[in-house]
Formats: sequence, structure tokens, C-alpha cells
Amino acid sequence: MTILVTGGAGYIGSHTARLLTEMGRSVVVLDTLERGYRDSIPDIDLVVGDIADARTVGKLCRKYDVDSAIHFAAYKAVGESMAEPLRYYKNNVAGSITLVETLMEHEVKHVVFSSSAAVYGTPDTAPVNEDATLRPESVYAHTKADIERFLTSCDATGLRSVSLRYFNAAGAHESGDMGEDWTATANLVPVVMKVLFGAQPSLEVFGDDYPTPDGSCVRDYVHVSDLADAHVKALDYLATGGRSLVCNVGTGQGTSVKQLIAMTESVTGRSLPHHVAARRAGDPASVYADPTLVRAVLGWRATRDLREIITSAFRWHERHPDSYER
Ligand SMILES: NC(=O)c1ccc[n+]([C@@H]2O[C@H](COP(=O)([O-])OP(=O)(O)OC[C@H]3O[C@@H](n4cnc5c(N)ncnc54)[C@H](O)[C@@H]3O)[C@@H](O)[C@H]2O)c1
Repeated sequence: MTILVTGGAGYIGSHTARLLTEMGRSVVVLDTLERGYRDSIPDIDLVVGDIADARTVGKLCRKYDVDSAIHFAAYKAVGESMAEPLRYYKNNVAGSITLVETLMEHEVKHVVFSSSAAVYGTPDTAPVNEDATLRPESVYAHTKADIERFLTSCDATGLRSVSLRYFNAAGAHESGDMGEDWTATANLVPVVMKVLFGAQPSLEVFGDDYPTPDGSCVRDYVHVSDLADAHVKALDYLATGGRSLVCNVGTGQGTSVKQLIAMTESVTGRSLPHHVAARRAGDPASVYADPTLVRAVLGWRATRDLREIITSAFRWHERHPDSYER
């Protein structure tokens, strides 16, 4: 019995695939490598292919006797999604439908899906819980909400799923040998690292007049290894008969941009050049999770704090200034 990890050569998928294999689980990764790296999972079986290629997925299900799937494969850049909606709907939504159809044909009935807190848009409350109205504000966020709904509808066919709404994934593997490629993302921690290592002159703090304690935006940063652990717990929950579920995966702790800068300077002993820039359109002031549901149902909670996020990201970039080999 094997777990199929789609997008498992990407940032979060590679950490999860590694954790699963360290726990002795059998894993096969399916990834186009368009935005992932073979070197991120050197010891794990990798099939280079597309989730939308039913023939490849079917073959792989038979060859590896796949019985569950974790579905990370997607495009994830918000700005790009607004400029190329067709590409995003095709890859994320149409691709997921073909994938799930093929999985069902091969009796794979447990799917854990990478959703996002982006489905909430600008929430009315912080912390935000799963009952909040979904107001996706980008094509990317719409694709996540659509797939969540599609998976929930598939309950009628016997497929059970857990959609995990990640907050801000950050940090790197404790070994220092796996992490996030800063060229491939605009997320805050990799951009902070770019500035620390001189690949960008200064960090832009987008707005310092928000209604938050220090005026900068507040987000919920979750260590990538804690996120990986949430997937294992979600798989085990489904394997023991758990019903389909949609839940937040966040720490419940809000961190402002200025707090993150201060933590970075304290951890690394380096000063982080930064300057205040205009607010970005559509940036909510404060978004952090109410993690009550994920704690109660999956028994998951974050075990690594912001210090560990910064320490591990710094270690990864120090050891791998050019990220992975392409
Ligand atoms: N990084 C975050 O903070 C964050 C937050 C919320 C949700 N997510 C979601 O988590 C998932 C993983 O994110 P990540 O940060 O690891 O992204 P990533 O880009 O590093 O990984 C995605 C992987 O999927 C692969 N891929 C894309 N389309 C594919 C396809 N059609 N077939 C096969 N492989 C394909 C890419 O090559 C890449 O390796 C994504 O679905 C993303 O939307 C990420």
C-alpha cells in the first residue's frame, strides 16, 4: 500500500514525502518538475508526469498499489493567477478533477488536499475559523475553494477527503538540506532571506498604518515540518474511518511583519535593511487561524515557533545559496 504525493517535489510536498518515508510509509511522488526539484527528494520514488494525465496516474496506481493520496500539485502564485486565469483553472481545477476521477477508478478513496487560508479573502474576524464566509479574492483562491467543494461533493461516491487550509508555510527542514527556493516565491520569509544574503537590497514593508499593534500586517506563520505532520495526521484520520473534513492549519498566533523582522535580526545577529512602502491592494490587516478544529479532530498543533522558522530558513539558505540544482 502506497501513498501518492502529487506535487511532492515542491516545497511543502517534499517535506511531507520525507516525513512519511522517515516514518516507514511507502511513498511515490508525481510531479511535472515544472516548479519542483528532483534533488529535494533524492531517496524517494518520483514519476515525472502531470496529474491531468490519466494514463500515467492509472499506471502508477497499479504499479505502486496506491491506496491514498496527498494532493499538493498546483500553481500557487496569486498575481500570476490573475493574469493567467485559464492556466490556473486548467491546472488546478481541471487537473484535480481528472486526478480524482482516476484515483476513484483505482479504488483510492482517501485524499488529503492542500487548500489555503486564501479562501477566506479578507475575513471579518481574527482569528478566523472554518465557519467564516468564503470570499476568495484571486483566481488562485477561487481554484482552492472550487476543489474543496468538488471533493466534498465526492463524498457521495465513497471518497473521503481532508482539505487543509494552510496559513503561511515557512521555514525549512532541520537538516538544512531542504527548503524553499527564494526565486520561486514572493512569500515573506524567503524574501527576508534574500535581503539577509544580499540578493535584494531592502525589504519592503507594505504599509505601517494598519489597525494592528505596530501598524504592519499580521499573519500566521506555520513551520513546514509542522505542516507535513498535519498531513500524516489527516491520512491516519481517514484511515481510521474519519469523515470528510475541511480545517485550518495554523498556529493561532499572529505575527506582524515588524515582529518577524525583529526576530530575524535577533536570531541571525544581522541587521535587515527594510523600508516602509505603500499598502498593497487587497492585503488584509490581520489573518491568523483559529486552530480549535484541527486540534480537536486531528490532534494536531504546531510545535515549532517563529524562532525555529527563521533559524531553519537561515540554515537552509546559508548551506544552499543557489537552492536546488535544476
Ligand atoms: N506555500 C504556502 O504558503 C501555501 C499556502 C497555502 C496553500 N499552499 C498550497 O500547497 C501546495 C504546495 O505548495 P508549495 O508551496 O509546496 O508549492 P510548490 O510550487 O513548491 O509545489 C507545487 C508542486 O506541484 C508541481 N505541479 C504543479 N502542477 C502540477 C501538475 N499538473 N502535475 C504534477 N505536478 C504539478 C510543481 O512542479 C511543484 O513541484 C499547493 O497546492 C499550494 O497552492 C501553499
